[in-house]
Amino acid sequence: MNILVTGGAGFIGSHTVVALVEAGYQPVILDNFSNSEKSVLVGINQITGRTIPCYEGDCNEATLVRSILEKESIQGVIHFAAYKAVGESMEQPLKYYRNNLGSLLVLLEEMEKVGIHQLIFSSSCTVYGEPEHLPVTEQTPVQKAMSVYGNTKQIGEEILRDVVAAQTPFKIIALRYFNPVGAHPSALIGELPRGVPNNLIPFVTQTAAGIRKELTVFGSDYATADGSCIRDYIHVMDLAEAHVAALHKLGQLQERSFYDEVNVGTGVGNSVLEIVESFQEISKVPLPYKIGDRRSGDIPQIYADVQKSEAFLGWKASRSLKDSLQDAWRWQQKLAARS
Ligand code: NAD
Ligand code: UD1
Repeated sequence: MNILVTGGAGFIGSHTVVALVEAGYQPVILDNFSNSEKSVLVGINQITGRTIPCYEGDCNEATLVRSILEKESIQGVIHFAAYKAVGESMEQPLKYYRNNLGSLLVLLEEMEKVGIHQLIFSSSCTVYGEPEHLPVTEQTPVQKAMSVYGNTKQIGEEILRDVVAAQTPFKIIALRYFNPVGAHPSALIGELPRGVPNNLIPFVTQTAAGIRKELTVFGSDYATADGSCIRDYIHVMDLAEAHVAALHKLGQLQERSFYDEVNVGTGVGNSVLEIVESFQEISKVPLPYKIGDRRSGDIPQIYADVQKSEAFLGWKASRSLKDSLQDAWRWQQKLAARS
């Protein structure tokens, strides 16, 4: 089965392409490399032992999308292509609305024209904002988005819900990712943050590698056990495999039209200070860090209720936090050796 993977050269997309090949699917990548490097393709091809077809182009270009859908006999689509920097989204809202929502609309329109109806959409746990109860289930109310980026995910979900409510024959699953981390265990692909990383794990590994002077723990006065924030860190290969499970599920559905949202996390929350400690234990490298102020926009804690992903997708995360940190560290060392 041929699957179009938009944003397939990115962090989560590249690992998903590998998982798709392992599961017997034939992925086709469409990426404009606005936030990825072509070297990723070499890594993917080395891991899979195949040459994965890749189109360099923009998902907002209807003619291109249409021609790939037809030429490659695509049967399903996984839509990763989007911008994801929260801070930048507040400074350049139109850029984010145009790319994240424009690409989704083009994709849906072109899929409809050629009669392809199976879609998996990358959503985020950011839709829950600061939840009242933990863990968050899919019924936890969605709150007003705290960023333009977050809003593109909420509006994206609404668009999909409306399309399916209109009885079109689309079958769509939106996966709400928690915090994806780690890398492929081969260290042939991984995360490639541009400039100073915003996210915790790449900042940790870059600090351990001596690229950054020290990590700042954003806040130690939250109402959590050790005062630092809690997140649900999921290994990117587990997340990749959740897409395979979702595709499989889409193929089994009897309904003519279908839309639903599913959390993709581990169900376990870890604090920033626990991450610092685990990382030092695993890497045997001391991690210079200081406690700093809270980061604006951060919520104290969130982690997933995973009952729906287990029951509906038949999937659950199998890798540990230790695996994630080990693989992220191996990838960082590989990157250092490269440069
Ligand atoms: P990423 O930036 O590594 O990957 C996105 C890829 O899409 C990049 O390769 C980029 O070049 C490409 N792209 C962007 N706009 C495009 C366009 N118009 N046409 C073609 N290609 C385009 O990001 P990621 O971390 O792999 O995230 C993938 C998806 O998951 C995104 O939709 C993101 O919002 C969502 N998500 C990510 C996280 C996370 O923590 N990484 C969490 C929740 C949701
Ligand atoms: C952030 C985004 C979120 C996005 C996600 C994945 C914000 C407010 N949220 O989530 O919308 O979906 O990334 O890209 O930007 N931390 C430190 N020091 C650091 C970096 C992070 O202490 O140098 C802490 C943060 O306060 C947080 C945790 O580590 O508690 C995880 O941070 P991060 O990796 O940025 O993810 P989120 O904030 O969960």
